[in-house]
Amino acid sequence: MSDRLFIFDTTLRDGEQVPGCQLNTVEKIQVAKALEALGVDIIEAGFPISSPGDFNSVIEISKAVTWPTICALTRAVQKDIEVAAEALQYAKRKRIHTGIGTSDPHIKHKFNSNREEIIERAVAAVKYARKFVDDVEFYAEDAGRTDNEYLVRVIEAVIKAGATVVNIPDTTGYCLPDEYGAKIKYLVDHVSNIDKAVISTHCHNDLGMATANTMSGVLNGARQVEVTINGIGERAGNTAMEEIVMILKSHHEIKIETNINTQKIYPVSRMVSSLMNMPVQPNKAIVGRNAFAHSSGIHQDGVLKNMETYEIINPRDVGIDDSSIVLTARSGRAALKHRLSVLGVELSQDKLDDIYEQFLKLADRKKDINDDDILVLAGANRSQNRRIKIEYLQVTSGVGVRSVASLGLNVAGEKFEAVASGNGPVDAAIKALKRIIDRQMTLKEFTIQAISKGSDDMGKVHMQVEYNDQMYYGFGANTDIIAASVEAYIDCINKFVK
Ligand code: KIV
Ligand code: ZN
Repeated sequence: MSDRLFIFDTTLRDGEQVPGCQLNTVEKIQVAKALEALGVDIIEAGFPISSPGDFNSVIEISKAVTWPTICALTRAVQKDIEVAAEALQYAKRKRIHTGIGTSDPHIKHKFNSNREEIIERAVAAVKYARKFVDDVEFYAEDAGRTDNEYLVRVIEAVIKAGATVVNIPDTTGYCLPDEYGAKIKYLVDHVSNIDKAVISTHCHNDLGMATANTMSGVLNGARQVEVTINGIGERAGNTAMEEIVMILKSHHEIKIETNINTQKIYPVSRMVSSLMNMPVQPNKAIVGRNAFAHSSGIHQDGVLKNMETYEIINPRDVGIDDSSIVLTARSGRAALKHRLSVLGVELSQDKLDDIYEQFLKLADRKKDINDDDILVLAGANRSQNRRIKIEYLQVTSGVGVRSVASLGLNVAGEKFEAVASGNGPVDAAIKALKRIIDRQMTLKEFTIQAISKGSDDMGKVHMQVEYNDQMYYGFGANTDIIAASVEAYIDCINKFVK
């Protein structure tokens, strides 16, 4: 008999806390539906008190999703809990996730409090949350650095107060796998009422040990894991869902199962990466571009003779199939629609028509259109209703000459033009842009990246622009990297011009 491991996805809460990864409500619903189809048990949909956007997203996700439990985060504060309960009103299954820091540094520096008072606040929060919902998860923030004997007292008290799940976060990503596993075992052995709650892991990846720590927690008794798609999350990120799921699927000797339909892993990974403008590193386990690419002659020879020689996972098991790069200028609307739906993007006929037109233009410039290109097109389509748009851009540049850019912009229906020179084509184009949009803004970060390979490839540009002491993140994608750079800058400006 296999044990069941609950998958708690926090892509839309911990994952979304990453600067530049914020999604709007429509995009969050798209991700939530994809997570539901993937088979996750719990979706942490947001932190409702933190912003009206988060509040609204929890409401809309609750309406859009049927099977997974919808979870909302709070601090151990009554108002937070009331707002979370309100945001969860439409959820078919609902959970409040409340908690407080339990390590000495948190108790002393964050709360200026003491251990006894923290237990009282934790218990009060759980009891209060239970007035609104039957399913209450308690997190002991920084449990990774919390003294084990004290942690036992906290966990025992919150279970007695009504917590159904107890989350033991390694908030700083500090623990070693043996240490984290021993902590979970210590709780299993010493918390007298532990049989009344599920133990959850929540590991951060600051030292690259999130997956190892999570597995160690599971092997020692945890039956819920808090994870994100592609391992995104604060700082170095959270435990990657795909890694835990595929470890359990590959190691048959561990008799623990999840509800995840692994063939949907890759499409969901691409969708999250594209919507959040967060590239997946090529060598990322399970979902990286090179995860199944055998380049050395010896490996290729072995794999051609028998896949088992070097492959422990069949790429098809995670939804990677050979047809992922087959769209060309001759592909029809139906093929594009099919590919988009494999990637988890469902569109109305009008939107599909728009994207198809852009697809044909791109296919004129680029021979093979891959999944990333398609997702970028779908993403570009999302931002079409922005206030500022490029009408035209012409740049002359070369060796021994100064670059000159002429730019035409449409700002809320009005046309503007400017010409500027610069020390390179991007510099000239941005200067022309700043002549039209005359604000005190400073470019803080600028990254250009080819999407896959080939000189005809699309370039992706990520930018950070500072305006009025606030940071704005922008994204652009185009086969012309100067145009992609201007698009990314305009994407930033569109976020603060009214
Ligand atoms: O890392 C952490 O401790 C958290 C809690 C809020 C669960 O994200
Ligand atoms: Zn976290």
